[in-house]
Parts: sequence; structure tokens; C-alpha cells
Amino acid sequence: MLKKAKLEIDNIQYELPIVAGSEGERGIDISILREQTGCITLDVGYQNTGSCLSSITYIDGDNGILRYRGYPIEELAEKTSFTETAFLLIYGELPTAEEKKAFSQRLTENSMVHEEMLRFFDGFPVTAHPMAILSTMVNALSVYYPQYFTIDFATETFDLMVVRLLSKIRTIAAYSYKHSIGEPFVYPRHDLKYCANFLHMMFHSPVKPYEVDPDIEKTLNMLLILHADHEQNCSTSTVRLVGSSMVNLYSSICAGICALWGPLHGGANQEVIHMLEEIHRGGISVCDCIEKAKDKENRFRLFGFGHRIYKSYDPRAKILKRQCDMLKNKFQLHDPLIDIALELEERTLQDEYFISRKLYPNVDFYSGILYRMLGIPADMYPVMFAIGRLPGWIAQWKEMHDTKPFKIGRPRQIYVGPTIRHL
Ligand code: ACO
Repeated sequence: MLKKAKLEIDNIQYELPIVAGSEGERGIDISILREQTGCITLDVGYQNTGSCLSSITYIDGDNGILRYRGYPIEELAEKTSFTETAFLLIYGELPTAEEKKAFSQRLTENSMVHEEMLRFFDGFPVTAHPMAILSTMVNALSVYYPQYFTIDFATETFDLMVVRLLSKIRTIAAYSYKHSIGEPFVYPRHDLKYCANFLHMMFHSPVKPYEVDPDIEKTLNMLLILHADHEQNCSTSTVRLVGSSMVNLYSSICAGICALWGPLHGGANQEVIHMLEEIHRGGISVCDCIEKAKDKENRFRLFGFGHRIYKSYDPRAKILKRQCDMLKNKFQLHDPLIDIALELEERTLQDEYFISRKLYPNVDFYSGILYRMLGIPADMYPVMFAIGRLPGWIAQWKEMHDTKPFKIGRPRQIYVGPTIRHL
């Protein structure tokens, strides 16, 4: 097998090592490039750039494969809870029965947010987007838990930061929703599991008690598991880059939340529902919507379609589509948006534009529909994505800090501005 790549610049040949991953992926190690040749590489949008070696998540985009720590996503979504998957991502192995019990207990113990922090909510207008509230509050955690402000790699310190973040993000998310609808906060309950507790904090009210349906709870577990990591995407790379400056974990995660918010990334699920609602209202037909997405003069895109890595059906979308059918049948739901979504998918799968560009529904296409079935409002969808992605961000942040030699992230550029000129 080829172990070196040859590069010729100005008639001088250089040999660059080829690095192979455990699944046979290959990369050319260019770390000596600038020092020896004076050149850098140029790769706008990092389409061909590997930024790290990682043993957390494996994706084969051509064959629709996604695995966390070696386990297929289909098995994890069916057989584990979100907190077990979170443990797997962060610590490398699924928890033993004892570890699972201890982890659950610590999540419960850390589920409340500091009472003083609740006053922050009063400062936000009710119209504030919950992603803005979430990112602000997560960053604010560093103020309330300053003893962990500097990076301390003692296991105990890190473990406590992990459970704090995982548990509190869910409480903050539910409170930001309650704030937006003007209802009192519902405190977490010690007897409920992670997802059931979140649903309780979201939907319970003193005048209308909320009973958690087991299929709804299972669906939420599944959604969060499917979002839990996706290797070096925009928000995860942001968490690594920001974290590489040695800033604390809370602030690194806050940056990840902001990166996730954009409509080309985690904000797409909210845009999908807006698009389907617009079609339903008669503002635009399915066919016109597809034509508009194909029109190169127009910046509009079919939200929930296409992916940087998947050039076949997103395996996460496949799982969620099945779950959609299950809930639809169980609760006899007749949501016109589902019919519109199915029509959109059917038409695009036969459309030359989408076929030739290998554009298939991505995870966000069906996650928005499922969150709607769960009763979660559209502007909370990116927040749900952030709760799900948190264990992945933490795992990647930890892996980056554990990697030797440690380097601050710092890409280079090719300068194309004016050459020297004088006043
Ligand atoms: N609708 C219409 N055309 C599309 C779409 C889309 N959703 N996605 C890609 N294309 C077209 C592009 O216009 C381009 O066409 P061209 O070759 O004629 O210029 C071609 O397909 C390739 O697209 P790129 O933008 O180069 O692909 P890239 O890998 O950079 O982008 C992305 C991936 C951002 C996800 C893109 O497909 C997109 O914008 N999708 C819609 C937003 C979305 O659903 N985002 C969620 C992604 S999943 C996630 O983050 C969890």
C-alpha cells in the first residue's frame, strides 16, 4: 500500500507521509509543507482538510454509515438511552450497570440551575430566540461555577463539569420555553429520567398536569442520540477551535451553540417547518418550491436536503422517518405538513437536479416534523439539537485537550489585497 505521496514544486520533489485510519480512510500529512516548501494548502470550506485524528465518530458518507465509538447508530438509537450514549461518547465505552446508576444520580443531583441565574431570564424579552438565551446562559455557567474556570484535567473536575452541563442545559432549555410563553418555571423532578424530566419541565403546568407517554419519551431519546455527534462539522470544529485557546469548557460550548444556530447547520430543522408551513398556507406550491431551490439566481435552498458528507440517504433521516410513521399511526395524527414533506421527498428523489448532486433528505428534514409531533415549537428545534449535540462537543473538546502535542488552532490564508502602498 502507498505510504508516501509525492509532490513536485518548482522541479523539487517532496515526499509526504500518508496517514491511514482504522477504517482505511487515508490522508496526506502536510505538517512539514510550509517549513520545507514555503507553500500552504488552500481549501475553502475545508472540504478536503482533516483537522485531527479522532476515535469518536466514524462516517462513511457514500454508504450512509454512522457509528459512535464503533457502534452503528441504528443499534444505539434502538437499544440505548441518550445518557448511555452520552457516556459512551465522552468516556469511550458504554457504562456498566454501576456506572450508569452513578451517572444518572449525578445528573439528577445537578439538574437545578443556580437560583440567582433565574433572574437572568427576566432580562430577556419574551420574543428572544431560545438559542440566544441558551448560549448566554451556558456561558454564564462559567460565572456561577468559577472554580472550574481554568482548565483542570483532574478527572473529578472534568466529570463534574460533564454532568453539570448535560443536566443543566436541559433545565435552561425548558425554562427558556416557559419564559417565552409567560408560564412559571417547572423544577426538575428527581424521580424522572433525563428525557421524561425534560418533557415534564417543558409541558407540565399547575393547571394542566402532563403525563409522559413512553413512546414520546423513546422518540426524544432517539432524536437526541441521532444528534449526539457528527465528527468535525461546523459547530464541533468551532468548539475545538475556541477550546484550543485554552478557554473553559462552558465558553467553548457556548461558541458551538452559536455556530449550530445558523440555517445551513442546526437551524435547518426550524427552516424546514417554516418551508412546509409556507407550502401548506398556499404561499408556494411543492413544485415551485423545488424550482426555486434549483434556480441559481436565487439563494433559496430546500432546507433539510443535502449534506457535506452524506452523498446517499442520511442514516439518521431513515430512522426518524420510521419513527414518524410509528407516532403518526399510534396517535392517529393527520398533520398536513407530513404529507407535504413526503411529496417533497418523492419529487426530489425523481428530479435530475437532486439526483445528479446526490441531494437526499438529511436528519433535519424529519427531526423538525418529529419535534412538532412532540409538541415542541419550531424555534426550540435548534435548542433540541444543541442538547443532543452536547455530549459530542464535550467528547471532542476532551479529545483535543488530550492530544499531544497540543496546538492552538490557527489556519492560514493566501493574501490577495493591495501590495504595499504609502499615504
Ligand atoms: N437545495 C438546493 N440545492 C442544493 C441544496 C439544497 N438544499 N444543497 C446543495 N445544493 C446544490 C448547490 O447549489 C450546489 O449546486 P451546484 O453544484 O450547481 O453549484 C450543489 O448542490 C452542492 O452544494 P454545496 O453547497 O457545494 O454543498 P455543501 O456540501 O457545501 O453544502 C449543505 C452542504 C450546507 C448542507 C447544503 O446541502 C445545504 O445548504 N442544505 C440545506 C440546509 C440544510 O438542510 N442544512 C442542514 C445540514 S445537516 C446538519 O447540519 C445537521
